Amino acid sequence: MAIVRVALDARSYDIVIEQGALDRAGSWLADYARKGRLVVVTDAHVATAQLPRLEASLRGAGVTVEPVILPPGEQTKSWRHLEELLDALLALEIERGDHVVALGGGVIGDLVGFAASILKRGCHFIQVPTTLLAQVDSSVGGKTAINARAGKNLIGSFYQPALVLIDPSTLDTLPVRETRAGYAEVVKYGLIDDPDFFAWCEAEGDKLLAGDAQAREYAIERSVAAKAEIVGEDERETSGRRALLNLGHTFGHALEADTGFSQTLLHGEGVGAGMALAFRYSARLGLCPAEDAERVTAHLRAVGLPYDLASAHVTADGTGLVAHMLHDKKMAAGTLPFLLARGIGRTFLSKDVVLEDVAAFLDEDRAA
Ligand code: NAD
Ligand code: GLY
Repeated sequence: MAIVRVALDARSYDIVIEQGALDRAGSWLADYARKGRLVVVTDAHVATAQLPRLEASLRGAGVTVEPVILPPGEQTKSWRHLEELLDALLALEIERGDHVVALGGGVIGDLVGFAASILKRGCHFIQVPTTLLAQVDSSVGGKTAINARAGKNLIGSFYQPALVLIDPSTLDTLPVRETRAGYAEVVKYGLIDDPDFFAWCEAEGDKLLAGDAQAREYAIERSVAAKAEIVGEDERETSGRRALLNLGHTFGHALEADTGFSQTLLHGEGVGAGMALAFRYSARLGLCPAEDAERVTAHLRAVGLPYDLASAHVTADGTGLVAHMLHDKKMAAGTLPFLLARGIGRTFLSKDVVLEDVAAFLDEDRAA
C-alpha cells in the first residue's frame, strides 16, 4: 500500500494505491457517507465488472450505495449525459457537503468531476479509477471536462477530488487493449523527465501488461508521484510545467481527429504514436539523439502500441494532420506550443515550431 499526497494547500488530497482497496472500500470511504449513504456514478461495463465489489464492501461498513449507471464510451462526456447526471444527483438530494464517487475510467472521472464542480456551485467528489489511464493520469490533478461539437474537452473546470482510491486489481477485468493504451501514459512519465523510469518500462513493461501485481503497483505509484509533483507546482497549467504532461498529445490529438475519435485509435494509443513522432521530429531537428528516438519507437512497437501513422491507421497526409492541429485548444496567438525532447527524460516546451515543417516531417516519416 502507498499513499501519495497532492499538495495544494486547502485543496490537498491523498492518492491511495492498494491492491484489493475496492474490497476494503468501506474503511476508506465510510467517513465520506452522509447519513450512511454514498452515490456512486459509473458506466455499464464497470457496473458489471467492479461495482458489486464496492457495493459489498460499503454495505459491510453500513453504507447504502445509490448507483447512477451511465452508458460507456466517450460520447458520455456530453451535455446530454451531464444533464442526465445532474438531474439524477439532484433527485438524490445531493448537498454541497456531500461526496459523489466516480467509479470508472477517464470518461466517468472527467464527467463526474465536472458535474461536482457545478452542482449547487460545487459538491465534493472521490475518484475510484478503474482503467490504467485513469489510475496513472486522469484521476489525479483535477482536470474535468465534457466534449463540445467543436472539439474534445473544450468545456470543463479545474476541480480537485477529495480523495483518489486506486485498486490495481480492478485492471484484471479491463480489456488488454485498454490496458496497453493506458500504458502509453506510464511511459510518458519516463520520457518527460525520468530516464531511469523509462529504462524500467523497457525492462518490466511486459510484466505490467501481463498483469503482474508488483509491476502494476510500482508503475502506478511512480506515475502518480510524478503527476502529483507537477500538479502541486502548476495546478492550472500556467507556468509551463504541467504542459509537459501533454507530451505526444499534439501529434496524438491530430491522429485521433483523423480517425474520428473512434475505436480505431484509443486516446492512449494516439498518445503513444504521438510520443514516438515527437521524438523522431526532435531528432530530425537535431535536438535529440537519433538513438533515443529509436529507443522510444522500439519500446512502443515492442509492447504493441502504435508508433507511426500507418500503425495508428491514419490516412491523412501531413497537411491534413496539421489542419487538425490548428483546432487544438492549446493554440494561442497563432502559435501552437509543442512538446519536443533533447533526449529521453529531457522534454521541453517549444513555441517556435513551424507547422509547415511538421507537415513535411509527417510525410517524410510515413515514406521512411
Ligand atoms: P474510458 O473511461 O472510456 O474506459 C475505457 C473502457 O473501459 C470503457 O468501455 C469502460 O467502460 C471500460 N472499463 C473501465 N474500467 C473497466 C474495468 N476495470 N473493467 C472492465 N471494463 C472497464 O476510457 P479511459 O481511457 O479510462 O479515459 C479516456 C478519457 O480520459 C478521455 O475522455 C480523455 O479525454 C480523458 N482524460 C482525462 C485526463 C485528465 O487529466 N482529466 C487525462 C487523460 C485522459
Ligand atoms: N493529462 C494532462 C494533465 O492532467 O495535465
